Amino acid sequence: MRNFQKLWNKSAVIYNKYGLTFPQYKKTNKFITEIVPIKHGQIVVDLACGTGFTTKYILEKLGITGMIYALDFSFEMIKQAKKNIDAKNVKFILAPAEKISTIIPEKVDLVLCNSSFWQFTDYEKVLRGVSKTLKDNGVFIFNLNQQFYDFGIKEISHRKMILQAIFSELKDRGYNPENKLREKLNQNQIKQLAIKNGLKLMEAKILEFPGSTLEDNINFFKIPAVAPFFEKVPDSVRQSILKKVYNTLKTKIDNTSKNKWVYFTLKKNLPPNRAKLEVPLKAERKT
Ligand SMILES: C[S@@+](CC[C@H](N)C(=O)[O-])C[C@H]1O[C@@H](n2cnc3c(N)ncnc32)[C@H](O)[C@@H]1O
Repeated sequence: MRNFQKLWNKSAVIYNKYGLTFPQYKKTNKFITEIVPIKHGQIVVDLACGTGFTTKYILEKLGITGMIYALDFSFEMIKQAKKNIDAKNVKFILAPAEKISTIIPEKVDLVLCNSSFWQFTDYEKVLRGVSKTLKDNGVFIFNLNQQFYDFGIKEISHRKMILQAIFSELKDRGYNPENKLREKLNQNQIKQLAIKNGLKLMEAKILEFPGSTLEDNINFFKIPAVAPFFEKVPDSVRQSILKKVYNTLKTKIDNTSKNKWVYFTLKKNLPPNRAKLEVPLKAERKT
């Protein structure tokens, strides 16, 4: 089995540079902080925070108030994040997402998880942990893209076209890497996973961002953790493959197709007896 923690450690510097260079990526991690209002004083977890792109946007909303726990299992990603963010109300935590409920020292209002959910080997464990970590009525937001969510579209995405071209080049050079992407999730599965683990799916928002350029995509596959199929391929061969794929596809790929993402909003599902209590309490407060 691949060691993704090690691959992310190897990816930290290049991932950070990639994220700062390609604007479409900035949009996805900014948008996740705009789905529900983030209010002053709130306690927020940035789950699988990476080098802190989303953390930065959360911090803009909180100012010097509240608290952000930014958690990631990669030492090098966190090291990079600490270079990017220096604030008293941000605490970086090196830990796997699966341990969220035992690691975060207090109940939180919001857990955000940008561009990472599909990487968790045990979805249920993470969702259970998130539910335990949230305050009553706390919210969990995560997103998935076309590679990991079934939008019901038959059309082959640019990223898939590029992947196919890379695999064909690898085969021509005698490599036979594993070509398995994680199975795509669908809305019903998310709904069921949520209910089973103490959460309720409230909303699934589909967003289209401007398509990535071919150059953007080629650079994306230079990040070791997103291109694990290059792990045992010498650097010079990898570079030559990416150059060939770029030249082959530059006349075939335009930038008009959109990048589709879905953003899920889940709420902590209170047990029925507690949920019943919630209604009169709220009504009382209003009068
Ligand atoms: C694509 S990056 C996204 C980083 C950040 N959320 C962003 O928007 O830039 C994925 C991150 O997930 C982290 N990750 C993957 N699996 C994890 C796990 N089981 N527990 C904690 N972090 C994990 C990786 O170390 C990496 O930093």
